[in-house]
Amino acid sequence: MTDFGSSTKTLPQTSDLPRHIAIIMDGNGRWARKRLLPRAAGHKAGLGAVRAVVKGCAERGVRFVTLFAFSSENWRRPAAEVGFLTRLFLSTLDREVDRLHRNNVRFRAIGAVEAFGDAVVARIHAAEALTAGNTGLTLTIAANYGGRWDILQAVERLRRSGHQGPIDEAALGAQLSMAYAPEPDLFVRTGGEARISNFLLWQLAYTEFHFTDTLWPDFDEAALAEAIASYARRERRFGRTSEQLQQSD
Ligand code: IPE
Ligand code: IPE
Ligand code: MG
Repeated sequence: MTDFGSSTKTLPQTSDLPRHIAIIMDGNGRWARKRLLPRAAGHKAGLGAVRAVVKGCAERGVRFVTLFAFSSENWRRPAAEVGFLTRLFLSTLDREVDRLHRNNVRFRAIGAVEAFGDAVVARIHAAEALTAGNTGLTLTIAANYGGRWDILQAVERLRRSGHQGPIDEAALGAQLSMAYAPEPDLFVRTGGEARISNFLLWQLAYTEFHFTDTLWPDFDEAALAEAIASYARRERRFGRTSEQLQQSD
């Protein structure tokens, strides 16, 4: 990963910039198949897109980027592919965390990561601890994550905390695994499918969606710029009318 941040001042920052972008990185397998390569080659190539997105978001001043790396349903894939993805996660953490740290990125992971084994858990905790005080972009990797799992673990944590009285949105929201971040402003899914695949179900309630046929390894700076430009054209009404929004300007 090349260092980033130096060109921050040359890029426009407007209120149309999403604070939080959540991405389903899909299409690695098809990218590889088109080239007659094994699926693993697609996953490896996808790392280039991760770097481009982290760099592009950090430079623009986006505060949070959340990447869906492995869903709770992805265990249904062949064991060899699951094993490859686990090793790739591990080696990527080893290789990239120092650079993230140098660039003031705070690293977080969400999901039931224990399932990947002690080595992965140890590396995640080390990366989180190293970068905890960083004040730039927060990069969250969702691994063995499911939106339903998240809501259920929040309910369970609330129950165990001895919470009294009715459960409201604030009480439940405080126990969700991304309670440290605002809800995503922009959701991006590459790879042409128009579904959520059990990603951040609760948190996407009012998020703007951007679906693109671009396969994840091909998602570059220009594709990121297009997604953000699409976001900037939206009118976020949150239940109000367009006229109400214009009056409050
Ligand atoms: C996304 O690409 C990566 C993961 C889900 C881990 P896919 O592996 O789903 O690629 P396609 O959808 O088969 O092309
Ligand atoms: C969603 O992609 C999960 C990740 C990108 C990690 P999938 O490729 O697994 O989604 P489905 O199975 O097509 O819905
Ligand atoms: Mg897929």
